[in-house]
Amino acid sequence: MQAASLSPFTAHRVPIDLGERSYDITIGKALLADPMTWDAVPAAASALIVTNATVAPLYAPALASALQTRHKAIYSVILPDGEEHKNWQTLNLVFDALLENACDRRTVIYALGGGVVGDMAGFAAASYMRGIPFVQVPTTLLAQVDSSVGGKTAINHPLGKNMIGAFYQPVLVVCDQDTLATLPARELSAGLAEVIKYGPIADMDFLDWIEANLEDLMAREPAALAHAVRRSCEIKAAVVGQDEREAGLREILNFGHTFGHAIEAGLGYGKWLHGEAVGCGMVMAMHLSNRLGLVSPALVDRVTTLVRGAGLPVVGPRLGPDRYLALMQVDKKARAGGIRFVVIDAPGSASVRSAPDAMVREVIEACCT
Ligand code: NAD
Ligand code: GLY
Repeated sequence: MQAASLSPFTAHRVPIDLGERSYDITIGKALLADPMTWDAVPAAASALIVTNATVAPLYAPALASALQTRHKAIYSVILPDGEEHKNWQTLNLVFDALLENACDRRTVIYALGGGVVGDMAGFAAASYMRGIPFVQVPTTLLAQVDSSVGGKTAINHPLGKNMIGAFYQPVLVVCDQDTLATLPARELSAGLAEVIKYGPIADMDFLDWIEANLEDLMAREPAALAHAVRRSCEIKAAVVGQDEREAGLREILNFGHTFGHAIEAGLGYGKWLHGEAVGCGMVMAMHLSNRLGLVSPALVDRVTTLVRGAGLPVVGPRLGPDRYLALMQVDKKARAGGIRFVVIDAPGSASVRSAPDAMVREVIEACCT
């Protein structure tokens, strides 16, 4: 393995600089069960751990035990597992738990799980009593490198992914690398899609590093994973620090997501994992960038090879160009019904632009069988 300077046994801190909403991401091992990990969380009488049926038996007891010195009452709510449950009905279970336990404005929510739990618990925190503190405790690679950082919270609508939500920052993010040991291989690959994303949009040295260390990443070598999480968080922190509410620059973090969200919604949420759809969506966005004359076929091949090597699909489902186009119109980057795509302008640099419908159709025809 090359260049992974990070010891997996030392906790690292990546700051997110957002003025009064600033917070830290702590990355390391054995963090969850250590009471000192949670020192930055506001003292409060009560806490609610929001988790799901898969993660709860694995990690909720250790977290609850570590929090005992911080909160007098620790409640928990266990949500059904799966992207198909990222909706109003499931969100309401969190509000039920908050109200049934007489939680107040100081109650701290801990989102223990992957991106689905994090997005829903964050949205609940943003809206309960118009906003209560919350902590992200991501337990998937995808959540550690992306969804727990930056304050996007949301639920899905049948007509569009993540369409209902809020920007709401956590007070702390804790990425305990040990939790990745129990992650199914397919979920690890899904997380790698969001790691790979940071290369073409922002840092070609990181892309080189991912290529050189893909085997170690797939084998969950701790130093490799720690470096991938840390560098991803640093890149995301830099982008979010400049554009918290996605007025412009932050849109580049949606590389691959326009096609990807169409795949997820078109197949029905949960059929393809979010990271799988993003991986394939990045390949499609690379082809679009090439057709727009921005990048070479060699770079398209390079990203495709890496996505495939990470165990992700590189050929999209055959929904048909009309269906893709209709689904992509409800993307949050769309303006007046016009679809906009994150494209790679040059290696390590991205922008958002529209493309002729005919060209998008060609990409869909070429990439989906
Ligand atoms: P997920 O939350 O569904 O988790 C994947 C699976 O792994 C689930 O079955 C979960 O129960 C299980 N799991 C979680 N941690 C585990 C562990 N340590 N060991 C064993 N199993 C574990 O999916 P995800 O990939 O983490 O997140 C995807 C979601 O994140 C999507 O809804 C997507 O829209 C959202 N997202 C949000 C942002 C953002 O900025 N807010 C960014 C990217 C993705
Ligand atoms: N995952 C994209 C963003 O946080 O902006």
